[in-house]
Amino acid sequence: MTHTPSYWAVVPAAGVGKRMQADRPKQYLELVGKTVLEHTLSRLLQTKVFSAVSVAISVEDPYWPELAVSKNECVLTAPGGKERADSVLSALQAISGRASEQDWVLVHDAARPCITAADIRLLIDSLQDDEVGGILALSSHDTLKSVEGGSIVGTLDRAHIWRALTPQMFRYGRLKQALEASVGNPAVTDEASALELFGMRPKIVEGRPDNIKITRPEDLPLAQFYLEQQQ
Ligand code: C5P
Repeated sequence: MTHTPSYWAVVPAAGVGKRMQADRPKQYLELVGKTVLEHTLSRLLQTKVFSAVSVAISVEDPYWPELAVSKNECVLTAPGGKERADSVLSALQAISGRASEQDWVLVHDAARPCITAADIRLLIDSLQDDEVGGILALSSHDTLKSVEGGSIVGTLDRAHIWRALTPQMFRYGRLKQALEASVGNPAVTDEASALELFGMRPKIVEGRPDNIKITRPEDLPLAQFYLEQQQ
């Protein structure tokens, strides 16, 4: 009997967001009447695609229990880790009794609240029959330079360079195994890089440019503009 895979969402939300220079982690900054994290989770929950959304939260986080969404029956809380990859692994472990090896997991940054249902659908439709999985990504419109010590040492071939976004969609068993094997490896800055180390070739699916990651103070008004445009 063939098993129809279920879909799970994993949201790493245990970062401090130092580059925002704010009084609280960036996922708790307010954006159009809600926190960044509430926007992100509501976008994922509204798709009704996921069996559960597993959210990695810092153990010292006083803000999470105050949000109504933390009590949503489709939302699980896992302890965050030192690096993003540790937080993702912890959120995967939290669903280990329920998820099957072949189930799909979509890992999405808490700091990307402008993700659209259309992009989630596109990623799933493009990859559901794929062996490995893949990620939303953006091609670069700018010419890209390789720089050492403040000087340009080369120009990269733009045709081969894509910017990795999230969600990143992989099979539960393989993703967990790849992240377990790469604990402490600084080269693993997203899920795809963990699978690449195993010799796999994740696909890219061109996503929307408004799926920005809130990183610096100037990103907040931009995210607000995109959220309002999307409504
Ligand atoms: O810092 P950066 O923007 O790259 O973080 C991407 C995402 O990973 C954010 O949603 C952040 O909360 C999360 N993260 C985490 N655990 C860490 C570091 C980052 O869940 N230790």
